[in-house]
Amino acid sequence: MASVNVIIVAAGSGLRFGAPLPKQFCNLNGRPVVMATIEALRSSLPEARLTLVINPDMEDLWLDLCSKHNFQSPEITHGGATRWESVRNAIIKSDEAEIILVHDAVRPMISDKIIKPLMSAITSDNSVDGAIPAVPVTDSLRIVKEDGTSSSIDRNIMRAVQTPQAFKGDRLRKAYSLPYRREFTDDASVMESAGFSHIVLTEGSHDNIKITNPGDIAVAEILIKERTGK
Ligand code: C5P
Repeated sequence: MASVNVIIVAAGSGLRFGAPLPKQFCNLNGRPVVMATIEALRSSLPEARLTLVINPDMEDLWLDLCSKHNFQSPEITHGGATRWESVRNAIIKSDEAEIILVHDAVRPMISDKIIKPLMSAITSDNSVDGAIPAVPVTDSLRIVKEDGTSSSIDRNIMRAVQTPQAFKGDRLRKAYSLPYRREFTDDASVMESAGFSHIVLTEGSHDNIKITNPGDIAVAEILIKERTGK
């Protein structure tokens, strides 16, 4: 079995969320969102090494939450001003793991259903640089131009990309040693810009929501209730 490191990025300020705390520390069924995320990863990947990336200003709060909830924190690394910097900080410190997964702390709904096909895609073939879960787009889409006009595009050829994203460790380390570019929105875009473009899409899930707006917590609670009966 290949060695696996999972980097959980939780160093964002969550400005769009409008709550006093970043969304990853807000309450989901009685405990912080990020604890649910870590627990789901521990359950699906029991052998993996987990690294949690947080803002240094949040470290005391996080450690207090861990003792309050009797929760064992993964190893902590400090994040940076952008998601790219946060991932890079963890990668610099990462061991020689053969496979690295990067996951947004604000996606607590992950499960074996997403992780199993992802792990099998990234480990199946040495030529595969990365595997990423994706789902069809349900909204109609338009491209907006600089002059404010817009035109429709065919949503059937589009996919919405989720996390965790899985990569060959040595190639991801190399991709993150290159300079930052503004168009990086996820780790697959960083890999592609380094020339590692064999990225396989695996089946994501519409349940794998990214907690972005306050109403998303209520949605996650309903989904958990449906899944567990609690
Ligand atoms: O901002 P966005 O919602 O795209 O963030 C996705 C994930 O990246 C979140 O879990 C957030 O905490 C993390 N992040 C980070 N460091 C940053 C910005 C975002 O770890 N500087």
